[in-house]
Amino acid sequence: MTAANENGMLLIGATGYLGSLVTAGFLCDGQRVVAPLRGSNTREGLIKQIKEDLIAEDINPEIDYDRLVTVSLPPVNEIPDMATQLKDLGVNEIVHCAGSVDYFDAKKLKEVNIDLTSSLIELGKRLNAKRFVYLSTAFCSGFVDGLVREILHNTPPADPTEYTKSKREAEALVNNCGLPFLIVRPSIVIGDSRKGYYSGKAYGLYQFWAAFEKFICGHSRSVLHFMAPMVKLHMIHQDAFKAGFVAACKNLPDNSILHLTSRYETLPTVREVVKQWAGLWDVSEVHYYQDPSEVPPTGIDRRNRMWLDFTSVNNDIAAHPWQFQTATLDQLRTAGLKFRDVTLDTVRVCQDNFVAQSQRAQTFLRKNRDQLTSRTQASESKTLISAVS
Ligand SMILES: NC(=O)c1ccc[n+]([C@@H]2O[C@H](COP(=O)([O-])OP(=O)(O)OC[C@H]3O[C@@H](n4cnc5c(N)ncnc54)[C@H](OP(=O)(O)O)[C@@H]3O)[C@@H](O)[C@H]2O)c1
Repeated sequence: MTAANENGMLLIGATGYLGSLVTAGFLCDGQRVVAPLRGSNTREGLIKQIKEDLIAEDINPEIDYDRLVTVSLPPVNEIPDMATQLKDLGVNEIVHCAGSVDYFDAKKLKEVNIDLTSSLIELGKRLNAKRFVYLSTAFCSGFVDGLVREILHNTPPADPTEYTKSKREAEALVNNCGLPFLIVRPSIVIGDSRKGYYSGKAYGLYQFWAAFEKFICGHSRSVLHFMAPMVKLHMIHQDAFKAGFVAACKNLPDNSILHLTSRYETLPTVREVVKQWAGLWDVSEVHYYQDPSEVPPTGIDRRNRMWLDFTSVNNDIAAHPWQFQTATLDQLRTAGLKFRDVTLDTVRVCQDNFVAQSQRAQTFLRKNRDQLTSRTQASESKTLISAVS
């Protein structure tokens, strides 16, 4: 960091997918970032990740990395004791992008999403931080009917997963902590809107694609069965996420809650996204189901069934007719935020990038095309024989 008397933020989770995008966004904006690292993570590794993300966005990666300071992250109960060290580094704000996305490991979810958040709040109080920014998720409302509003949520009739419940509980901690706050709730984050580059883990849409690659690619077939409800799939591109997050931190008043997701009108439905994917594989028969209860109990081969089972939680989440209030994002757009919405075509860009990177998918595609060509040739020669006989 250039000068200890300049102010800066403490960014927790800078090594994660979204945290590193946010770190890059703040550094490019000329801000100063203190990033606590743990385990084998290094400053060099973080800078390498940031550079790769910037290059993928056609941004010159040679920015001023003196404005990035890394410190080591102590065990969770000792985090509040970092206050003196961080005051000396000029930290006056906390941006919390760390989290566990494990759907069902309640112990881990408590450790990361609840205990870590509590400890960071205590640190924020000792620092007398001007704001506590929390990266949450749009789905933390749980399964509720109608418009999901940009307010704190009550306990819903049902939660998709323990994960969404833990994020809602963490939001309540932030809301009640007595510090000014900002809560940012993205929907499913997918790759860059122009090139499809994606550096995250196999979550959301990437779980669907990666599981298909694992269970289906490499196993010849002519029939495929998909869960594909006709409801909108709520996604946001990673470049839009970064721009929206930085703009929210700069422009929104204290105690704001923001849904970061694409315009409802431009979003494709799950059915459209699945059809676009199914269209790649040249199979002769494809079945789409609106609801899990429609999936036939027999007649689906083992690997297709395994794939459906593996993706069932995300399929259930996707089948819910989510609708998110986006009034705050609309205000940011009106104030000049450039935000590229997800469309079926931009999902195609991400899909093409995923398939191009996947050896298994490439081999499977070639095989299927060869089989299709030989099937077509066989049926053409049959037609010729019957035409001359
Ligand atoms: N990805 C999405 O599509 C998406 C969408 C909506 C909301 N979100 C939210 O965004 C958050 C981050 O997601 P992501 O995709 O960036 O996840 P990620 O790539 O798995 O990154 C998780 C980050 O949290 C840190 N972390 C995990 N456990 C920790 C602990 N016990 N103590 C300190 N740091 C810890 C990790 O540090 P290490 O590198 O040291 O492990 C890493 O920096 C999640 O909480 C999720 O709720 C994500």
